[in-house]
Amino acid sequence: MKQRATFNSKLGLVMAAVGSAVGLGNIWRFPCEAGEHGGGAFLIVYIFCVIILGFVVMLAEFFLGRASQSNTVGAFKVLAPNTMWKIIGYNGVLAAFLIFGFYSVVSGWTLEYIYQSAAGNLNANSIEEFVINFGSFQSDIFRPILWVLIFTLITHFVVLSGVKKGIERASKIMMPVLFVILIALCIRSLMLPNAIEGLKFFFNPDFSKITSTVVLSALGQAFFSLSVGMGCMITYASYFNKSINIPNTAVSVVTLDTLIAILAGVIIFPAVTSFGISPSQGPQLVFITLPNIFQQMPLGNLWSFIFFVLLAIAALTSIISLHEVVTAYLHEQYKMSRRKAATIVSASGFTLGIICSLSFGVLSRFKIFGSTIFDLLDFITANLMLPLGGMFICIFIGWFVDKQVLKAELTNNGTLKFKLFSVFVFLIKYVAPIIIALVCVNELGLF
Ligand code: PFF
Repeated sequence: MKQRATFNSKLGLVMAAVGSAVGLGNIWRFPCEAGEHGGGAFLIVYIFCVIILGFVVMLAEFFLGRASQSNTVGAFKVLAPNTMWKIIGYNGVLAAFLIFGFYSVVSGWTLEYIYQSAAGNLNANSIEEFVINFGSFQSDIFRPILWVLIFTLITHFVVLSGVKKGIERASKIMMPVLFVILIALCIRSLMLPNAIEGLKFFFNPDFSKITSTVVLSALGQAFFSLSVGMGCMITYASYFNKSINIPNTAVSVVTLDTLIAILAGVIIFPAVTSFGISPSQGPQLVFITLPNIFQQMPLGNLWSFIFFVLLAIAALTSIISLHEVVTAYLHEQYKMSRRKAATIVSASGFTLGIICSLSFGVLSRFKIFGSTIFDLLDFITANLMLPLGGMFICIFIGWFVDKQVLKAELTNNGTLKFKLFSVFVFLIKYVAPIIIALVCVNELGLF
């Protein structure tokens, strides 16, 4: 039998997993969710969700992937043959595809902004003018779609070059570059006048702002940002070799991902308050506010260029993982060649991307449950499919997987220490599923 691909080095695999986790979710979605849901209050709930729920689900996914050596659906078929558990896998593949659709649109916007900053065109006389400029770009029919196409093609070729050459190499080079640029931008932002007000908004929690919507958003954001709940980490862990220390890898990924989200907050909120802009602007926060801020800084176009290159890199390493979830599923479950599987995913993903992009323009009046297609996909995937997928993964591991098998896999057959194993089992069996269920039921208004 042909041996399955594995990641080459420990650094490479941590970088690939971090690359999947760190993306638009940290730099575009996190500040926008935090800004809309009360800043510091959101941050506290978010960190709680990351540690208690996100980390636990990530460990569970790593276990599923490495133990089964299979894709998201295949993992459940291997570990629980002829049962309904594979539905969790189907939920994951569908979520990956739907996220791919709207994610490629925002990724495309980053390319437009790279182009505009390089051309020195990201200038306007007021924030209103930025709003109008962004609005007319967004609602244009062809231009955003062209960028979606370019982004999808880049993704397609990286995925096609396979696990080692494509994903691992791309992540290993891109992730460190990202860290360096982020730190530079943080320093720049903290030197702005009135930066302290932004830091207060972000770090000083006002507990009265914590509502069920805030908790659901923080939960969804935690899962989205960590790439868990849909089997992305199952797919990546299926490429881990047997000597990898799973608990340590999960700690590294969760820590780096959270750190980057917080760094993004430290870049954006001081800048926002420094120029007297409201932090609760929604998805506009990055694409309208920041160019305005960059323009008011010396060498603004250069800063802006660097920032959007960074955002595009982060988006690429994440969208690759979304693509890989569906490609690995088709390739392994239907015995298709990788090339054919990847081509199907790219072509259908691009089609969904077109629909999502048009939902800002000609399809903006077309609403389902009062939301545009873009907003609906964002909400359904992050706030429902990922948390519910995560909940069922916890129930599967907590109640159906033999704990000896679980422990043997997580400790590499007893050669590693995992002191908190019983705490992990308690969390995954009781705490995580109950909290997730309560949050979802409460938010759906069933209480
Ligand atoms: N975690 C990515 C981000 O924060 O941008 C988005 C993502 C990638 C979500 C892969 C889910 C996933 F499976």
